[in-house]
Amino acid sequence: MCPAPVLFNPETEYDLIILACQSWFLSPSIPIASFLKTTEAQRLLRGRRVITLHGIRNMWVSAQEIIKQKLSAAGARLVGNIVLADRHNNWIAGITIVRWLVHGKRGPTGILPRAGVSDADIRNASRFGEILLDSIKNNSYDDLQQNLVAAGAVRVKFDLLLIERNARKIFVKFARNVLHRSTISAEKRSAGVSIFKGYLLFALFLLSPIVSVIFTIAGLLIYPVARKKIKYYQGILLKS
Ligand SMILES: Cc1cc2nc3c(=O)[nH]c(=O)nc-3n(C[C@H](O)[C@H](O)[C@H](O)COP(=O)(O)O)c2cc1C
Repeated sequence: MCPAPVLFNPETEYDLIILACQSWFLSPSIPIASFLKTTEAQRLLRGRRVITLHGIRNMWVSAQEIIKQKLSAAGARLVGNIVLADRHNNWIAGITIVRWLVHGKRGPTGILPRAGVSDADIRNASRFGEILLDSIKNNSYDDLQQNLVAAGAVRVKFDLLLIERNARKIFVKFARNVLHRSTISAEKRSAGVSIFKGYLLFALFLLSPIVSVIFTIAGLLIYPVARKKIKYYQGILLKS
């Protein structure tokens, strides 16, 4: 990994830093993970207030947990989180994102909607700016996340949350045993990547609709537990 040189002075004492993030394979994307590792980022973030802003498909909670840890380790104070996601169901959003990222066609085409975060959601995100402005004017960030959540800044679906947390365990195993294992041959790694690709397509298009129904029902049956989990992921605190 060789991040591009930063174009800011890391010694600047910003009042607030907005960190625009993406999830890739349920982890912080390589650009954001690389950025957070730089000494400039460490210097910039130390002692600063930070708001994370995710522009993703629909699975971001695992990436955010990692970012929370990195920010805390850097001595930054996370004061807010805003998530802009594709609001179509997981299956449709899966098809449209593959069409967009692999074939370069964002759409809409036929019955398929335009991929990614909708223009309306991007336009309406200005309401979060107004909430933030209040915090800045009052120099009080304690209620910021609560106000952002009340305005719809972070929607957490219990079924997606469980799918994501379970899938990440498999992703991590794959990364450890195939991608990052130095002793594995190039042929075996390439075969492993093909198997992973097949698994991803199977999990996204065949398994996830069934699992989604099961997890949604489970969420209703254990509503208090589900509610507690959703509240945690809508918040900015880091589990100790
Ligand atoms: C390699 C790769 C992996 C991705 N993995 C995820 C993911 O795990 N969760 C998610 O919600 N979106 C995922 N996405 C979608 C991105 O977060 C983002 O929504 C998409 O790339 C469009 O944004 P962009 O135009 O800024 O790239 C992935 C995209 C790429 C390129």
